[in-house]
Amino acid sequence: MAWDKNDFLDIEVLTRVDIETILNLAEKLEPYSGINDKFYEPLHICEGKILANVFFEDSTRTRISTQVAMSRLGGGSVNFDKTVSSINKGESFEDTLCILDGYCDIFAIRHSGEYSVFRFADLLDKPVINAGDGKNQHPTQTMLDLYTIRKEFGKIDGSKIVLIGDLKYGRTVHSLARALENYNDVELIGICPEGLEMPSKYENCETRVIDTKNLNEVLSEIGPDVVYATRIQKERMPEGMDAEKYRYVINEQTLGILPDNCIIMHPLPRVDELQIEWHGKKQRMFEQASYGVPTRMAIISILLGYEKEVMEL
Ligand code: NCD
Repeated sequence: MAWDKNDFLDIEVLTRVDIETILNLAEKLEPYSGINDKFYEPLHICEGKILANVFFEDSTRTRISTQVAMSRLGGGSVNFDKTVSSINKGESFEDTLCILDGYCDIFAIRHSGEYSVFRFADLLDKPVINAGDGKNQHPTQTMLDLYTIRKEFGKIDGSKIVLIGDLKYGRTVHSLARALENYNDVELIGICPEGLEMPSKYENCETRVIDTKNLNEVLSEIGPDVVYATRIQKERMPEGMDAEKYRYVINEQTLGILPDNCIIMHPLPRVDELQIEWHGKKQRMFEQASYGVPTRMAIISILLGYEKEVMEL
């Protein structure tokens, strides 16, 4: 199934051309995104359009960077707050969304159920961005992850990428693994404690189950270009599962054993698995998070039909 550009739900329908189109638009938009010193005059591309940011699950980066992206494009946004909404009076998620469909022009939706956002999108007339559906996917995060890698190395083909941590419940690694299938000679290795393995459907990821105490040894043997660390997704674990058992740590010592040009990425939030400074020769987590703005600007522009306007910037 090809991407119809009506919604942005599913990483699986994107071809390499689709991905590169988004990354190229993001590159065009970066100077207008406010994330670095270069700041051109404000854009008016989405003037008069309103984004409904509907997060039924917690979020800091995705929620705020999507809102900022819309503002930087000249549009407006409303931020749905479940805690003060009529959901508390018993209104369903579906009814809530259908009402907002009448007020707004585009949605970003996050929900804890796998494929929930796909189902919501079926109900709605306006374009929907999947801002995370349970442990399934987080396709906009993948765009900023790929943008970070491409910016660092000038390409994605040929990279050796290690995913570490919770490969079972973490949605960012699922989407990233899928998207990387579009690239040539990518060596994708998943390192995780027993019990948090990557689901077998992500065949392009070679999973190695390790004792977390041996992490540095394993990383030094692999010599990756990218270390993509993830948080243990405690909130998705079945009751009685002890998250503490899966604890692992990347620290200054880990940085020391990695190749000079290796970069550390993390979708964030970090909890205690990343015990290093924000900034440093290898750290890219901060920049990675900031790229959430231009990449989401690109996705919003495409969904609202303004791809040509962005190309002409
Ligand atoms: C991630 C998520 O929500 O899946 N956060 C994010 O959007 N950057 C990762 C996480 O919560 O661990």
